[in-house]
Amino acid sequence: MSFPYLRPRRLRKNLYLRDLVAETRVSPRDFIFPIFVKEGISEPEPINSMPGQYRWPVEKVTKIVSDALELGVRNVLIFGIPSYKDELGSSAYSKDGVVQRAVKKIRKEFGDEVVIHTDVCLCHYTTHGHCGLLTRKCVGDFCRDVIDNDSTIELLGKVAVTHAEAGADVVAPSSMMDGMVRTIRKALDEAGFTDVAIMSYAAKYASAFYGPFREAADNAPQKGDRRTYQMDPRNGEEAIKEVALDVEEGADILMVKPALAYLDVIRRVREAFPHYPLAAYNVSGEYSMVKVAAANGLVDEKKIILEILHAIKRAGANVIITYHALEAAQWLKEGLDRELF
Ligand code: PBG
Repeated sequence: MSFPYLRPRRLRKNLYLRDLVAETRVSPRDFIFPIFVKEGISEPEPINSMPGQYRWPVEKVTKIVSDALELGVRNVLIFGIPSYKDELGSSAYSKDGVVQRAVKKIRKEFGDEVVIHTDVCLCHYTTHGHCGLLTRKCVGDFCRDVIDNDSTIELLGKVAVTHAEAGADVVAPSSMMDGMVRTIRKALDEAGFTDVAIMSYAAKYASAFYGPFREAADNAPQKGDRRTYQMDPRNGEEAIKEVALDVEEGADILMVKPALAYLDVIRRVREAFPHYPLAAYNVSGEYSMVKVAAANGLVDEKKIILEILHAIKRAGANVIITYHALEAAQWLKEGLDRELF
């Protein structure tokens, strides 16, 4: 008798056998493609920090949406870059704000062929670049600038309603304010949008992986950082607390962000909340690191991107928000997931 007699390699013998027993399959139907829409431009503008991505004028946004649909990517997430900013982020809830106009245009052009998600936050719209309203708080003689949680969530409710009025299917609050999901749910319901879903950035970390996005969307805080609202990267258990609150407040889809350095968090949330759709945001830094490494010939671009997307799904996410969506959809169509693994 020969030894060993247990040989896992038997199932790795060839392409089609490996494909048969592969545990994870990624499809364009898993993807949400983020799209930046900017006021005051007439042509798509390349984003230097994110090779291959563009800021789109409202007038031409249907072009990129139609590219996505053609590749089978039916879900898009709209981020706005307004030309007017103020302390209160008022263009975030203006009826003819950049996101509101883009959503209307996309809906009019494609009807129910596309699912429209919108980012609900103030950071792109405030002069100070924070995700909430700033107030000065004094205790005795000591004063500091703080983000005022409760007035912020009221405004986020207003933002969400204007997105729903424009035709959004899903609103995605990303500010990490306490109670934001409940306030938004209440505002939507009171305005009659009981059918608009909430995808909550439930466990969003204060991450350096957002670096390239801040150039893309011009939303960097002018002073300070986001550590008083986004989570500490050292914490994993706390993610369960954050997610539990959003579930209780009425979130329909949960999200962990970023994805790659947080695959353990994705797995924990998946196990703690097995009955909820779970999204993972494959963020700008994760995207750009791969693009730059590939452009320098250091990694095999297609293979590494498909590996990343499969890893996110294997960790437990069933929805992947990714800037790679269109190229990956094309590669999947060509069967590269099978050819490369
Ligand atoms: C802001 C927001 C950020 C991202 C999505 N929404 C950045 C931030 O918190 O500064 C990051 C996305 C990415 O890096 O791809 N509300």
